[in-house]
Amino acid sequence: MSAQHLTIRPGQTAVITGAASGFGLELARLGAKQGLNLVITDVQQDALDAALAELTGMGAKVAALRGDVSRAEDVQALADLCLERFGAPHIVINNAGVAHGGLIWEHTQRDWEWVLGVNLFGVVHGVRVFTPLMLAAAAKDAAYQGHIVNVASMAGLLNSPNMGAYNVSKHAVVSLSETLYQDLSLVTEQVHASVLCPYFVPTGISQSHRNRPGELAASKPTQSQLISQAIDTLQRLWGLQPIRIGAQAHLQDFYRQHGFVTASGVYDEDGIDHVEMRRDPAGASV
Ligand SMILES: NC(=O)c1ccc[n+]([C@@H]2O[C@H](COP(=O)([O-])OP(=O)(O)OC[C@H]3O[C@@H](n4cnc5c(N)ncnc54)[C@H](O)[C@@H]3O)[C@@H](O)[C@H]2O)c1
Repeated sequence: MSAQHLTIRPGQTAVITGAASGFGLELARLGAKQGLNLVITDVQQDALDAALAELTGMGAKVAALRGDVSRAEDVQALADLCLERFGAPHIVINNAGVAHGGLIWEHTQRDWEWVLGVNLFGVVHGVRVFTPLMLAAAAKDAAYQGHIVNVASMAGLLNSPNMGAYNVSKHAVVSLSETLYQDLSLVTEQVHASVLCPYFVPTGISQSHRNRPGELAASKPTQSQLISQAIDTLQRLWGLQPIRIGAQAHLQDFYRQHGFVTASGVYDEDGIDHVEMRRDPAGASV
């Protein structure tokens, strides 16, 4: 695995999408503790307001903007806010994501548009809008270091049944991230990319439909989708591990390893190593 150091210093700026809940909020809390300026966005206004209050209460400088990452103009507005308040970001974490279960042929067109819109196009817009700002900052300052982190999933490396659109979106994010890694290495040593591939942590992900937009509303659920919802509910009730501990462990592990792919989960160590090695873009021939 290629190691690209993610050096975090107080006063640097981090952009985090989907920052009002789950991994995004935990990352924002870690950033606040480390003295980072935070630029946060989320589609859920009440949760974003609560996150802003909490992070500001921790002493962080925070700029918050409600937005939908599947919309190019919302991601552009986030970048404009970041430049205005803090300048070019040092860390961009394309984290916002949604999950949707069911047999792959039972996903409706709107299911596909919603899941790919948030999970894939959210990352596409984040990379397209923020990478040039980071490259411009690198060109101006030889000491500048930038890092883009895309949040995929173990579902971006392995395919489980009954979650087809999610698998497809996360495989696409891994592919996008590998290509970003390769392309950045052609032009700079100051901006790097990683992809985070967590296994299951009981966040708000099983309740993703809470933020599904009306124009992409779900149809009456099929039997396979009801089964998927029931499994999600059971997993939440069982609470495999508390979110704070689970998410913090994943993320601190990620910071520690600062490799390109950071995976985690129930698979045995050899299995994880195998997946990570296959996915090491530095080892790929171009
Ligand atoms: N929890 C897990 O088990 C797990 C495992 C692997 C990968 N992931 C990935 O981690 C990322 C974060 O998910 P989480 O588990 O913290 O779930 P979560 O639901 O707790 O957090 C996701 C956040 O994204 C926001 N969001 C949803 N749609 C959005 C949109 N269109 N624009 C902006 N924000 C939007 C939600 O409001 C929420 O605050 C996702 O990309 C998810 O796919 C999660």
